[in-house]
Amino acid sequence: MIEEIRKVEEEIKHALEKIKTKEDLENFRRIFLVRKGKIQELFDGLRKVSKEEKPIVGKYLNELKEFTEKKFKELSELISKGDEKKSQIDLTLSGRTDYIGHFHPVYQTMEKMVNIFVELGFRVAEGPDIEDEYHNFDALNFPPEHPARDMQDTFFIKSDKKLLLRTHTSPVQIRVMHNKPLPIRYIMPGRVYRNEAISARSLAEFHQIEGLYINHNVTFAELKGTMVEFSERMFGKNLRFRFRPSFFPFTEPSAELDITCFLCRGKGCRVCKYSGWLEIAGCGMVHPNVLKAGGIDPETYTGFAFGLGIERVAMLLSGIDDIRLFYANDMRLLTQF
Ligand code: PHE
Repeated sequence: MIEEIRKVEEEIKHALEKIKTKEDLENFRRIFLVRKGKIQELFDGLRKVSKEEKPIVGKYLNELKEFTEKKFKELSELISKGDEKKSQIDLTLSGRTDYIGHFHPVYQTMEKMVNIFVELGFRVAEGPDIEDEYHNFDALNFPPEHPARDMQDTFFIKSDKKLLLRTHTSPVQIRVMHNKPLPIRYIMPGRVYRNEAISARSLAEFHQIEGLYINHNVTFAELKGTMVEFSERMFGKNLRFRFRPSFFPFTEPSAELDITCFLCRGKGCRVCKYSGWLEIAGCGMVHPNVLKAGGIDPETYTGFAFGLGIERVAMLLSGIDDIRLFYANDMRLLTQF
């Protein structure tokens, strides 16, 4: 009898190892655990066992039954859990894809602006981010103690007070005048730095595009025409323009350019602060002192210059109202461009 039990025990252990699915489990139950199964058969056989042997054989058999039921229960739980997991997998979902890199929205805006000016006949020039006082201020007609120098809080480079991080792209005007033949028709994109408190409207590091045209008989009308043409290509047709008198040491006369808010078409909205107008550029006729500093005779040549903030244009075009978002490196924003 013991031999028979041992045989069935072996069979059970062997069968347990093979159980993988619900069906295997059910088969196993039918063979061993039902009323007509192999374990019950052994119990039936107990009748034939002698009185002396009965307690030992009975104990052995009971242990085998308990063992088998326990294993069966464990396996059923394991398999039904696995099924649950499987049912959570949605085979119709599309797979995960990797992010494909692309240009930053500020760079994309700059490229668009540069391309329009190139179409209008401008060439592209660049200057260094670390400038000297001469190019950033002196040559641009900022008098030594003029408050205009404070207008643009400057990061000076400690070891040498004469070196600084440029506060605007205008110093490249001087470099272009020194290095390029006349007539000059250049745009100068680049990064600029100001020691400013960081807020939704301003950063300590941002981008500008400078423009400079110098030739015989350049007039304010040409400045206006250039700005209008650029704006229409950049922001769309049917805009109105407003050149407001302003002041820069390096231009005279100077103006700030407003265009109709293209988001509300002038009706007034959050972005234009309910004025219907957006300020997009500083501009003016190049000051004679600046032409002189650039080695150009102001009696023979005249010119115009303008400066546009790139982040500002990117914000206007995308409706983003916090400039800091551009540099937060948040993929939720960046992947929208
Ligand atoms: N440099 C000026 C600024 O940073 C902009 C400007 C450029 C104004 C050229 C007039 C002409 O605000």
